[in-house]
Amino acid sequence: MPAQAHNSEMRMQQVDVETLQEWLTGGRPVTVLDIRTPEDRAQWFIPGSIHVNAYDALKSGDPHALKGVDLPKDRPVVTICNAGKVSQIAAERLHDHGVEAFSLAGGMKSWSLAWNTAETELRSATVVQVRRTGKGCLSYIVGSASEAVVIDASVEPDVYLRLAAERGWTVRYVVDTHVHADHLSRSRALAEAAGATLLLPAQNRVAFHFIPVKDGQQIEFGRSRITVLAAPGHTMESTCYYLDGEALFTGDTLFISGVGRPDLQASPDEARERARVLYQSLRRLIELPADTLVFPGHASEPPAFDKRPIAERLGTVSARIGGWLRSEGEFLAAVLDRIPPTPPNYIRIVELNEAGTILDDASELEAGANRCAVS
Ligand SMILES: [Fe+2]
Repeated sequence: MPAQAHNSEMRMQQVDVETLQEWLTGGRPVTVLDIRTPEDRAQWFIPGSIHVNAYDALKSGDPHALKGVDLPKDRPVVTICNAGKVSQIAAERLHDHGVEAFSLAGGMKSWSLAWNTAETELRSATVVQVRRTGKGCLSYIVGSASEAVVIDASVEPDVYLRLAAERGWTVRYVVDTHVHADHLSRSRALAEAAGATLLLPAQNRVAFHFIPVKDGQQIEFGRSRITVLAAPGHTMESTCYYLDGEALFTGDTLFISGVGRPDLQASPDEARERARVLYQSLRRLIELPADTLVFPGHASEPPAFDKRPIAERLGTVSARIGGWLRSEGEFLAAVLDRIPPTPPNYIRIVELNEAGTILDDASELEAGANRCAVS
């Protein structure tokens, strides 16, 4: 709930991430005012927020920093900056002008863990897409009868346990599509908390106990069945999960308008070789039925609080990127020319994921947008 603290110097009115997430999920009218620089805003933002470039002016004490900003009068304002300090000055200024204003405690750094959901009913199963809107990571709870499988857990284990319990599901398996480089996998912790079996693609990278899965293997739960499809390229152990001939969970191999980058922790020659392998994997995946629903591992934009799944028919995805897949040569040229900047901290994140370590506070390490795709 909004906290109000008074001292002689300053009125501090703040909301925490959970509260703002609840307001946006519940559709409560609220204006989110992002006062950061355009450069910071370009990294990542809160869906539906208004941007005013007032950071420097507020920081330097300019009393007119927010003058002329037109805000709806009938709803509270939540001000946002990177760490939740300058946004307090913004909230105070607005407050002085009679606006009900709060600062988001911890700013975008804390918002990194915010999430929302979108549900898809399939013939045999229900897919709950759990979207880490603060970072763009997409994870899934797939429920069938009374059992569920969680794929690529990226927010706190409790979130999955609660969402599954609300639907009458017991989490039976927790799986990852690959060793992640942009966020700490919560799969090991979730499997422990749920008393579920942790399944990972067969590899010798991680140092903790798991049950390996290999190409062609089946994972049965409820009335459903997931077929394991090895899809090396983004990483050599990358794997996709094919559900009941209806849906394909692609991790960072295939996005709805792009493919996974093949270059992390690779020399230029190795990246080229991985891109070749990725080409073969993608050729195989696009042979699946065109009406298969593709559920990717990341979104390139912050997932909105709109309950609309980020998913696309395989036919539509291959129409978008099919040009790249005409030949290996065209694919290599397209992908290797479009490699985005290397994500921050990825070497440390990979180390922790290989060790299976979760930090008490990963906000500094995980800050910033995901950069897993070439599109
Ligand atoms: Fe990845």
